[in-house]
Amino acid sequence: MPGSDRRGPTRRRIGSRYRALFGLGGRGGVGLVGKPVVGKAVYDRIGRGYSEVRRPDPRIAARIDRALGSVSSVLNVGAGAGSYEPSDRDVTAVEPSQLMISQRREGSAPVVQATAEDLPFDDDTFDAAMAIITVHHWADPDAGLAEMVRVARDRVVILSFDPEPLAQLWLVRDYFPRALEIHVGMMAPIKELLARLPNARQESVAIPRLCQDGFSCALWDRPEMHLDPHVRQASSSWHLMPAELTKRGLSALRADLDSGRWDERNGDLRSLPELDVGLRLIVSELG
Ligand SMILES: C[S@@+](CC[C@H](N)C(=O)[O-])C[C@H]1O[C@@H](n2cnc3c(N)ncnc32)[C@H](O)[C@@H]1O
Repeated sequence: MPGSDRRGPTRRRIGSRYRALFGLGGRGGVGLVGKPVVGKAVYDRIGRGYSEVRRPDPRIAARIDRALGSVSSVLNVGAGAGSYEPSDRDVTAVEPSQLMISQRREGSAPVVQATAEDLPFDDDTFDAAMAIITVHHWADPDAGLAEMVRVARDRVVILSFDPEPLAQLWLVRDYFPRALEIHVGMMAPIKELLARLPNARQESVAIPRLCQDGFSCALWDRPEMHLDPHVRQASSSWHLMPAELTKRGLSALRADLDSGRWDERNGDLRSLPELDVGLRLIVSELG
């Protein structure tokens, strides 16, 4: 059955305010394979130093690996520097940003410079297609999801965020309330992603303590790390925070760390084994 037959009925498109948020005119980079696309990829602007901060966490990797089941060939869409690419399967990566491609580790999977919305592969080319912490960056998530379903035979695996639990996280609640609005603006609601994928289910992925992947809410147990500009550089939400709010929130956080107030309020988090900050794994079984 050609992949395109599996697309669900036409619905309202998932709103992506992303292009407006980043002042984007085009859709990605210039494809090595596939059609050239207009404009520069966002991560060519914001991806500097990504691979130093955003290392794959083995506990999250194990969840992704389990979700992939027994498939042999995998397309990793929005692959970035190659985090979470399984080493024991036949992986092909798709990534629009040249800067991200340049950070791929030696020995990582072959990469095609293209976007999710226009995958340069025939129907049913791979057993599985996966997209890890990337769907919220796509200019047209509907098109990208339909493309994943088209090129995969067995399943689609997506790791994304439900922004709601973030409202309770100290980082957002006490220092950067605007971050919630930014996340809600960027992230397609999980239920909308589920509605667009055949036989889809979701699982919560609690973020382990001392998570090795330094995305902003993964640092729930290490507040000091947010004070490091190199760490902030590697998470896109900081690039959308107005500079004045960043300055104000960081100086309040620094003062609370110095005075011990942060630990008085949140110190129990430093030894908690894991916390649900809204990370969700979606598995769509195409059958
Ligand atoms: C937060 S990074 C995640 C990278 C990697 N999956 C990881 O887990 O480290 C988001 C990635 O999505 C890529 N991206 C942005 N727009 C895209 C699109 N339209 N199609 C595919 N990938 C896209 C970015 O270039 C960036 O590498």
